Parts: sequence; structure tokens; C-alpha cells
Amino acid sequence: MAEENLPVHVGIIMDGNGRWAKKRLLPRSSGHDAGMKRAIKLARHARDRGIKYLTLYALSTENLNRPKEELDGIYSLFRKYFGEYASQLAEENINMRIIGDISVLPADVQDKMLKACSRRNASPDITLVFAINYGSRAEIVRAANIAAERGKKVTEEDFTRLLYTGDIPDPDLIIRTGKEVRLSNFLLWQAAYAELYFTDILFPDFNNAAFDRALKDYSMRSRRYGNIKGDI
Ligand code: IPE
Ligand code: IPE
Ligand code: MG
Repeated sequence: MAEENLPVHVGIIMDGNGRWAKKRLLPRSSGHDAGMKRAIKLARHARDRGIKYLTLYALSTENLNRPKEELDGIYSLFRKYFGEYASQLAEENINMRIIGDISVLPADVQDKMLKACSRRNASPDITLVFAINYGSRAEIVRAANIAAERGKKVTEEDFTRLLYTGDIPDPDLIIRTGKEVRLSNFLLWQAAYAELYFTDILFPDFNNAAFDRALKDYSMRSRRYGNIKGDI
């Protein structure tokens, strides 16, 4: 694939874990477990493809309304995966970041996440960004409040820097697995000119080949940003 047609930043709305489990008569937690395993595989694959940022929507602000039992299961998975993979991924030159408000998570899970994110390589091959208790509207309101406290009008660039993703380039490609065709409060500001790719594949089944198909589709898009250059 020509390098100029490769996205720098890919976001994935990892949807369909529950349905994947249901199809197999397994508990929803098995679907989330399979989803986390898939996420790690995709991170390595995206790194091998030369992508610099991969943002994974793992838990939305709205997901916090789910039953306590499901949330506890998800927190246990975070405990397990952030604990297990932190040093491994750092050694593979993959940095981890979190966007969202993790202060509502159990304290030991927060600790594991912060520890994982603190092992930073100076020039990572890829930065893996987990969106956890993330909601774009909450992020925008938070940024607006920071701006208001500073008491000065902001430009688009200033405002962009006040978001959780302040130092990360906008996503070029956003993929949503699991059949739904919506953004569900993911990177609304940042996605202004993202290319969107929707697939019916349930996230645990979204393998490297499926990811490559999304990249191929992206490579054929004409990004005009409101201008008239390129083929129409
Ligand atoms: C996405 O899978 C993961 C989270 C939102 C935590 P879902 O749990 O939404 O799976 P479905 O949509 O019920 O299949
Ligand atoms: C979106 O999936 C959030 C994540 C993948 C983390 P949901 O399953 O929560 O989205 P809706 O409810 O179908 O919009
Ligand atoms: Mg869902």
C-alpha cells in the first residue's frame, strides 16, 4: 500500500462483544475477554502496518449505565490485561495512553492503567490509546470549562489542545464493527474529517485481514476537505 494512503491515526469502535458471546451461548464477559485479546492482536498488526496511533473505544460514558455485574467483569478484564501486557507492549515499542475519566474505576485498576501508561518509549512505533469511560460530549464540556476558567477566547487550535487528545493528530479513519452505523459519542470533534468504515463483523471476529480490508478501502477514498481537488 502506498505510504501516502496509509492513515496515521485509526480509531475503532469495538462493538459486538455481547452478540459474539450470545451466538456461542457464552456469558457476555467471554465476549469482552475475546474482544480484549483481539484488541492486543490488532495493536501489533497496526504497528506492523506503520500506523502511528490506534485509538480503541473500550468503554463509553453511557456504558457506565450497564448492570454492575457486567461492569465488574469489564473492570476485571482491564485489571488482567493492563497488568499482563504493560511491560510486554512497552518492550515492543508500543506506548499506551488513556483518554476518558478513569477516576470512577476501582483504585487498583486505575493504578495498573497509570503504570502501563507511564512506561513510555521516547519514540514509539505506535501509540495505543484506550478510550475508557470516554464520552466526546463530556470531553468537549471539560475543555470548554478549562477555557472558561482561563477567561480568554479560544481558536479551534487552542480548543483542540484542551481535549484529552490534545497532542494526538485527528483520526484519519474510524472503523465501527458490529453492524451499527453510528458514532455513539466517540471523537465527535476530532472526527470532523475522518473517513468512516462500518462492518457487520462482530469485534472479536475482526481479525488482521478484516483490518487490512478497511485500510484498503480507506486508501481508495478521495479526501477533499471541502475543496474540489481529486476525482469525484
Ligand atoms: C462493545 O460490545 C464493548 C462495550 C461496549 C464495552 P457490546 O458489549 O456493546 O456488545 P453488543 O453490542 O452487546 O454485541
Ligand atoms: C459503543 O458501543 C461503545 C463502545 C464500543 C465502547 P455501544 O454498544 O455502547 O453503543 P450503542 O449503545 O449501540 O450505541
Ligand atoms: Mg454494543
